[in-house]
Amino acid sequence: MATAASVGPAPSELLDRVVEEQERIFTRRQPGSAARAARARRSLAGGVTSSWQITRPQAVWLSHGRGSKVYDVDGNEYVDLHGGYGAGLAGHAHPAVVEAVREQVGRGTHFAQPTDDAIAVSEELARRFRLPLWRFTNSGTEATMDAVHLMRAYTGRDLIIKVEGCYHGHHDSVQVSVAPDADEVGPRSRPHAVASSTGIPEAIRALTLVVGFNDLGAVSALLAEHPGRVAGMIVEPIMMNAGIIPPTPGYLAGLREVLHADGALLAFDEVKTGLTVGPGGATAALGVVPDLVCLAKSVGGGLCCGAVGGTAELMGFVADGGYEMVGTFNGNPLTLAAMRAVLEHVAVPEAYERIATHRRTVADRVREAIEDHGLVARVVAVGAKGCVTFSAAPVTDYRDFLAVDDRYNHAHWLFQHNGGVFLPPWGKTEQWLISVQHDEEDIARFTANFERFARCVGDL
Ligand SMILES: Cc1ncc(COP(=O)(O)O)c(C=O)c1O
Repeated sequence: MATAASVGPAPSELLDRVVEEQERIFTRRQPGSAARAARARRSLAGGVTSSWQITRPQAVWLSHGRGSKVYDVDGNEYVDLHGGYGAGLAGHAHPAVVEAVREQVGRGTHFAQPTDDAIAVSEELARRFRLPLWRFTNSGTEATMDAVHLMRAYTGRDLIIKVEGCYHGHHDSVQVSVAPDADEVGPRSRPHAVASSTGIPEAIRALTLVVGFNDLGAVSALLAEHPGRVAGMIVEPIMMNAGIIPPTPGYLAGLREVLHADGALLAFDEVKTGLTVGPGGATAALGVVPDLVCLAKSVGGGLCCGAVGGTAELMGFVADGGYEMVGTFNGNPLTLAAMRAVLEHVAVPEAYERIATHRRTVADRVREAIEDHGLVARVVAVGAKGCVTFSAAPVTDYRDFLAVDDRYNHAHWLFQHNGGVFLPPWGKTEQWLISVQHDEEDIARFTANFERFARCVGDL
């Protein structure tokens, strides 16, 4: 005989109802954003300034940020753990960044000539990332684009290798297999290279070879198949656009070894990892120095920024004119003033200690809530970054990540948002970022919301 429980709604439907209820609460709190979205659609394509700001139920329009908080146009306050997709390590209006930028605004905002800050910043990046020569760009996309161009120019080869599920910005060569669907991916040992956007010419897509993260054998196999034809590989040393996926021991050193054996190069995309995982990024933290490192986001204190560092040999090729790394706004004085302030006053040892304490608190409380309420989930945290992955087993590559049900992340995002904590809206892919300005109360608000969410969803 059927019991009452067995004829009730399946847990999956209950989860949908939880999401619906939380979206109703969300929408009730956002009338000002709704009005702006309606007006904006008449002059901004899609009503937003970047397509990834189109989120469910709707984009939230912000009025300002201060310290660890942001405020929406309806007057709601949030602990900001969104961090502008990982740029917000300094928090908002950090006094050192404000002072440096204010001072520079008064002295001129653009010259297209080098300034003293360029020397101070490149010297400090060289020290931290153990690579001697640097140049600046205006975004992460520009940094990885220059890295790919440079690897091709230096080796005289056209093919590059990238990892399935890694996002490296929106230039053609890396817009391949960023977030392919399950029916497109092909065999795990030999992923299909899938264009990730319209507008990517087939001829360019065909030059990008795709491997799974943590699969050193696949890289060796590709090099053997295309001997002397691969310019290099670009990879996030810790994957950060599929939740957070750490490298397995020996993977990064192994990549460098097999690539170099074939005369190919290794570029780390540290746009997301960078200063958020430690003072010298993943490069210093994990002890594997690649040929090139790409930085952006957190290194700029909230301004448009980017940098590429490399070996004397490779960047010497740039110095000698072998590859022209150019841009009107490269080394912009405002950006460099902010970068210098970040390196001298924000990303400093005491700040990393404070962040580590917060990280441990978050990870412990979240883990307890997961266990107490029987959630199928795990917390992954590194440096200032962390995420909850709703999976029973550890996620080691994009294929594991594909299987994760993103409704849990969306429900969690809504609980946090309605409870006054702003996380990145693309919950399954993104992470929280603890800034140098967060305090215990901010962290307690997040963990209390998580406990409420776990109790609600764990009981389904
Ligand atoms: C790992 C990684 N690389 C590159 C980029 C591109 O950076 P930007 O958006 O500054 O062009 C991103 C952006 O999210 C990123 O996450």
